Amino acid sequence: MKWTESLSVGNDYIDEQHKEWIRRINDLLEAYNQKRGKEKVGEAMEFVKEYTVTHFGAEQELMKKYKYPEYEIHKQIHDNFIKEVNELDEKIKKEGPTLTNLMTVNRTLVDWVLNHISKVDKKLGEYIKSQM
Ligand SMILES: [Fe+2]
Repeated sequence: MKWTESLSVGNDYIDEQHKEWIRRINDLLEAYNQKRGKEKVGEAMEFVKEYTVTHFGAEQELMKKYKYPEYEIHKQIHDNFIKEVNELDEKIKKEGPTLTNLMTVNRTLVDWVLNHISKVDKKLGEYIKSQM
């Protein structure tokens, strides 16, 4: 998975965070390929839990700054994702890094790039660029 200029939201700080997200997913996929997924998944979930809170907060500040008309719906998507991540984390803590859980983590993180960063955040980026 690769970050490209087309994903830019017009803010270096947010773009750097998106790049970090993609880097982490690539690391995790690499760990899966090397059959080290079970060792790495706990660490990945810790990153995701912290990242979602700080990164979504930063993105929401940016939306407020530019009076983004779709702020509410975008924030709702963020809140739902935080909830999904926390539920998944609890499930892994309870059941351990089973194959099903590893696959769910993988799908959840990759889907976030495909459905959120490259669509919802991209739309925000286009709006911000139109305001600058
Ligand atoms: Fe977002």
